[in-house]
Amino acid sequence: MVRLFLTLSPAISRFNLYPGISILARNNNSLRLQKHHKLKTKTPTFSLISPSSSPNFQRTRFYSTGTRISSLPYSENPNFDDNLVVLGIETSCDDTAAAVVRGNGEILSQVISSQAELLVQYGGVAPKQAEEAHSRVIDKVVQDALDKANLTEKDLSAVAVTIGPGLSLCLRVGVRKARRVAGNFSLPIVGVHHMEAHALVARLVEQELSFPFMALLISGGHNLLVLAHKLGQYTQLGTTVDDAIGEAFDKTAKWLGLDMHRSGGPAVEELALEGDAKSVKFNVPMKYHKDCNFSYAGLKTQVRLAIEAKEIDAKCPVSSATNEDRRNRADIAASFQRVAVLHLEEKCERAIDWALELEPSIKHMVISGGVASNKYVRLRLNNIVENKNLKLVCPPPSLCTDNGVMVAWTGLEHFRVGRYDPPPPATEPEDYVYDLRPRWPLGEEYAKGRSEARSMRTARIHPSLTSIIRADSLQQQTQT
Ligand code: KG4
Ligand code: ZN
Repeated sequence: MVRLFLTLSPAISRFNLYPGISILARNNNSLRLQKHHKLKTKTPTFSLISPSSSPNFQRTRFYSTGTRISSLPYSENPNFDDNLVVLGIETSCDDTAAAVVRGNGEILSQVISSQAELLVQYGGVAPKQAEEAHSRVIDKVVQDALDKANLTEKDLSAVAVTIGPGLSLCLRVGVRKARRVAGNFSLPIVGVHHMEAHALVARLVEQELSFPFMALLISGGHNLLVLAHKLGQYTQLGTTVDDAIGEAFDKTAKWLGLDMHRSGGPAVEELALEGDAKSVKFNVPMKYHKDCNFSYAGLKTQVRLAIEAKEIDAKCPVSSATNEDRRNRADIAASFQRVAVLHLEEKCERAIDWALELEPSIKHMVISGGVASNKYVRLRLNNIVENKNLKLVCPPPSLCTDNGVMVAWTGLEHFRVGRYDPPPPATEPEDYVYDLRPRWPLGEEYAKGRSEARSMRTARIHPSLTSIIRADSLQQQTQT
């Protein structure tokens, strides 16, 4: 009997097959791996890049139903969902997060330890300091998540963890912890794409949201417009050619002398409420590019120049500014926010048209990632989406910014269709090389939207999640 796993193996994406494992229901409503034969825990050896290189490469679909029913799709098994319980771990940037989520979407716990002090001290994320901060709190964050869920590791069905994209040093802390938990308790492990998790958490929130759908994912490091065809399969309609919108919010906040304890975005949003959004003339980026790509580096420069022109001193906190100085800052914040969001609006409108050409049955547009917690962003994009006769799905702010729930949920989605790794060994050597994917595209680029500026920067990029999953599906088709 052979099984399929999406592995967390070293260096590159690999698929592997392990004999004799099935999942049996337990009386405490969780599911665990049951080993029929000796479980192979060595590093997988079949590369997904050339899966046919293995003479033993065969596949059998695998559904967890208490007994194995390979012909019954997951969606037709009503009991499956409720029984799964997954721990999700997220450390890709500056938040250490863990959560426990049940297969039916019930959030049993959610814990986040943020690095606000470091953010204030360094004015941004410093990888080494962020890694140390993750390492200090990871054990406690995971323990708290289990305690709040009233569970122990033994009750879990699997562990999900972000393996990319993100900062390698930070990703490593989460992956090491996830493998330790999984190894000690013989749990399967699911490697999660951070941006897919931002998109899919909307499916936990909105039960009606089925594939295909559109998503705008806006965070500190990403500005992505994607068409989600299926689980793990995305077409990238647009991305940023330089900075993401969250980075522009963060720099604007820093240069305006705002309180960065909750990150820059919320501070700019709050101050913008006091300002006149039409008072400072900023140009909307890439107005004449008839594509769905973004650029925020130029807008950042426009903001910096406006701040210099008004002689605003970032070292003087806005709380101590004179009335006139405060009004100047508020005007810049409001004007920046308006233009930053106009750029999103223009590109979203075009992307929806493109997406409907490709998948006319789309009914929803998801907006997620940290910047999607901004009320002005939500309001403006809701108008665009409604004009195109789609429904906007925007997770609540606590699920838009980085969190463990989105990782646990995405882990669940992949786990239930049989994409996961077997339990790692209980002890791993200190020098074990983890499969981390700091630069990992989500989808395949849509030819119409390809950007020259972007294609220059392809060094050390991992094959996209979509290409990995497509290769797997192709392989399955040729096997059956
Ligand atoms: O998704 P996220 O939590 O982490 C990354 O994956 O980057 O996004 C963080 C970004 C930061 O740039 C932060 O300033 C921005 O989201 N953000 C906001 C708001 N809340 C968070 N930007 C604008 N308005 C907000 N209310
Ligand atoms: Zn994020």
